[in-house]
Amino acid sequence: MRAHLTIDPHFVVGEINARLFGSFVEHLGRAVYDGIYEPTHPTADEDGYRKDVVALVRELGVTAIRYPGGSFVSGYRWEDGVGPRDRRPRRLDLAWHSTETNEIGLNEFATWLQKVGSEMVYAVNLGTRGVQEALDVLEYANIRSGTALSDLRAEHGSVEPHAIRMWCLGNEMDHPWQLGYGTAESYAELASKTARAMRQIDPGLELVVCGSSGAGMPTFGEWERVVLEETYDVVDFISCHAYFEPYDGDYGSYLASAVEMDLFIETVAATADHVKALKRSAKTMYIAFDEWNVWYLSRYTDVERITDAGTWPVAPRLLEHAYTVMDAVVFGSLLISLLRHADRVKSANLAQLVNVIAPIMTEPGGDAWRQTTFFPFAQASSLARGTTLELKLDCPTYRTERYGDVPVVDAVATHEAESGSTAVFLVNRSLTDEVAVDVEVSHLGDVRIVRAQSLHDADVHAANLRDDQERVGVQDNATARLDGSVMRLTLPAVSWTAVTLEAPPGGVATR
Ligand code: AHR
Repeated sequence: MRAHLTIDPHFVVGEINARLFGSFVEHLGRAVYDGIYEPTHPTADEDGYRKDVVALVRELGVTAIRYPGGSFVSGYRWEDGVGPRDRRPRRLDLAWHSTETNEIGLNEFATWLQKVGSEMVYAVNLGTRGVQEALDVLEYANIRSGTALSDLRAEHGSVEPHAIRMWCLGNEMDHPWQLGYGTAESYAELASKTARAMRQIDPGLELVVCGSSGAGMPTFGEWERVVLEETYDVVDFISCHAYFEPYDGDYGSYLASAVEMDLFIETVAATADHVKALKRSAKTMYIAFDEWNVWYLSRYTDVERITDAGTWPVAPRLLEHAYTVMDAVVFGSLLISLLRHADRVKSANLAQLVNVIAPIMTEPGGDAWRQTTFFPFAQASSLARGTTLELKLDCPTYRTERYGDVPVVDAVATHEAESGSTAVFLVNRSLTDEVAVDVEVSHLGDVRIVRAQSLHDADVHAANLRDDQERVGVQDNATARLDGSVMRLTLPAVSWTAVTLEAPPGGVATR
């Protein structure tokens, strides 16, 4: 099989916002406790954070982290997690049928974020709470001093304000499972009032209103329209959430999941633009894809198990999915979809970061290691710079149950004019065939290949497990070579590949 790709740096889709490489830490399972925080671990620092996890999060290149939930936030009282630890209450976490000890809260999480070099994206509870509590946490977090709550923060040891710019107005408020969920109209009214009130404290905040919890929700589309009609002028982003998994062993469709992700983004953008037209607005509503990942949700019974047992454990093992090679290839294609929509998706959060459907796993008192999905994310976050380019891709298709005919190869390219560097990310979705790709690079000038690496394995179900933590990784793709103005490259079946090309600065189109 053969595919042709043309890269031209003049065909710009949009600027890549660094927040596209965000992630998400929820008080869920072992994400926080026994994940990032484990004071008795041999690598724990003076604040109880695992240094091995900090190093991996840095290596992953996560730019912004959404916190503290997720579904957890819809029943959360932020005040429980601040002040002297010995006075913090233990609470029932209804979302995950667990006990929340509140050892970690806003200030501790901000400290951890400094260690990993990431920005905080904070979600307020609009499930069981409302405008006042959102204002309170904003005052506590961001006001320098001189008010009851800002002075309280200083008293709690965090003298400097946290300066959180991006705030989510609740979580998945369209989902019947969510605490406090309601109709689009009721949520829209509450989100609008909350946004207006928060802007009275700081008009410069970046606010995210909840879109649908998935494109499969019966209210999808209408939810976005109603919510945006009410909130368009006071928010900056609408959220999208999507998780992908194979159904009935249909791996052909699974490998084409990005087709659904593309459609989801384009549908939400179209709905937002419809509201823009109705409002005669000059403002473009951006998308915050603030939960995305591969998650075998239909096989997931962890919470039912503890609910049936009638227990409320602290930091139970929940959603600890072992990601395979094929999962990582699908995951890579989702990253390609996000990058392809860089003009519209200005923020995204891989859900989640540690232990819970995560690229990083830990054992209490033991190791921390990289799952297969770690590699595409780390490569994209370190290599995708500048702008996304529109690609011309000619490629054979294959037939899928869910999406019809789909190109065997999916790809995206990014380009940074100042450094002259170009990155190309590709997936081969074929379960059986390698694909020879010819990439026309003449428009990039006198480029050289800096590096080409692929993730693939003869066993597409191989994973990095506790007892075999380095089973899967990326390897140099020795097939990449320049042949005049064409880069030739072979993509193994079910693979992800990242290539970096470099031209002399200012060297575009000198040929
Ligand atoms: O990421 C896990 C859960 O998935 C989140 O808590 C929720 O928002 C979503 O349904």
